[in-house]
Amino acid sequence: MAPEQGSAYAGPYDLIFAAITALTILFSVIVFACVLFFAIKYRAGSKADRSRPQHENLRIEIAWSLPPMVLGILIFAWGAVMYVDLRNPPKNAMEIFVIGKQWMWHIQHPNGVREMNELHVPSGVPIKLTMISQDVIHSFYVPQFRIQYMVIPGRYTYQWFTPTKPGKYYLFCAQHCGTLHSEMGGYVYVMPPAKYAEWLAQGGSGPQQLTMQQQGEQLYTSKLNCVNCHTSTDTERGPSLYGLYGKQVKMAGGETQTADNDYMRESILNPYSHLVAGYTNTMPDYGHPAGQLTEEDIDKLLLYIKSLSAGTTPPPAGATTTTNSALTPAVTPPTPTAAQGNANPNNTNQNRSPLTR
Ligand code: HEC
Repeated sequence: MAPEQGSAYAGPYDLIFAAITALTILFSVIVFACVLFFAIKYRAGSKADRSRPQHENLRIEIAWSLPPMVLGILIFAWGAVMYVDLRNPPKNAMEIFVIGKQWMWHIQHPNGVREMNELHVPSGVPIKLTMISQDVIHSFYVPQFRIQYMVIPGRYTYQWFTPTKPGKYYLFCAQHCGTLHSEMGGYVYVMPPAKYAEWLAQGGSGPQQLTMQQQGEQLYTSKLNCVNCHTSTDTERGPSLYGLYGKQVKMAGGETQTADNDYMRESILNPYSHLVAGYTNTMPDYGHPAGQLTEEDIDKLLLYIKSLSAGTTPPPAGATTTTNSALTPAVTPPTPTAAQGNANPNNTNQNRSPLTR
């Protein structure tokens, strides 16, 4: 009855599902058999012995309480172990970015290959999906892999799987997301690793392009000029983003935040919602007006910022297309208004969450 098993998770998933179903059937049969037996035995007018009514029987009560309790705890522990496994992608997993939008799935491979409603992956390799929605709540669902998870606007969610068999598998949106929800689907193509490498090297089904990290670098150093304020050391224009990933950051309000994907995204799209200690609201508000940066752009920036590890030398000034004069301290940093025609210098937008974009 279940769909074909296409991932390493599918077997264990079907096993626990079958175990719970079997237990449910077993206990239903026991309960209904007892109900039927006693209903017939003690029906009105039957000759059954009613002289010694039982009000308490500790042994029977223990017998019907303890085994179901132990079974319940075992099922809980089994399920919890599987859940923790499902929610924690292994460190060596291959990361692929997913963006849900009404009504399609947009996929970005770190090497720059992009796909629409199709996801190509190698078999036998753990794949981690970093997902976000550009509009409403969607859900990325591959029944044959037994995986499904919410794709939410304004927040990253993750799921992972290890495909086991080359083939073509259904991809669905499992969250009603508007009139064309039922059309929001496609296919996952699982390929032998060698064929996948070939496919990826040829640029997938589209033209070859820069890797996501290289595109992030372009945004960072020339298109958006983040590098004007963010260099390899903390300056008065802005804190360094080198080695920032995963660190604890102290905020102006005294609290600390972990520099993860969500923090980075919020720092770019809603920079005044939490200011880094020692700085004021001089960073341009890239979230307002909305639409200057797509979710694709942010994913690329995240990958690039992640690649800036502490202790590495900054890119040589001449290596980028940036006008190098902007890097010399003599030049005044762009004010939010100058850098962003419409950004609000009075900062009245600071309470708007990126969720309202
Ligand atoms: C005009 C200067 C300026 C520009 C341009 C600028 N920033 Fe900032 N940025 C700042 C300042 C100042 C802060 C610290 C105050 C705050 O938290 O907003 C900051 C904070 C950040 C933080 C949080 C840093 C931390 O230590 O926690 C991130 C991430 C960030 N910026 C990314 C970017 C990106 C990506 C761009 C380009 C799209 C960019 N910034 C462009 C000035 C700037």
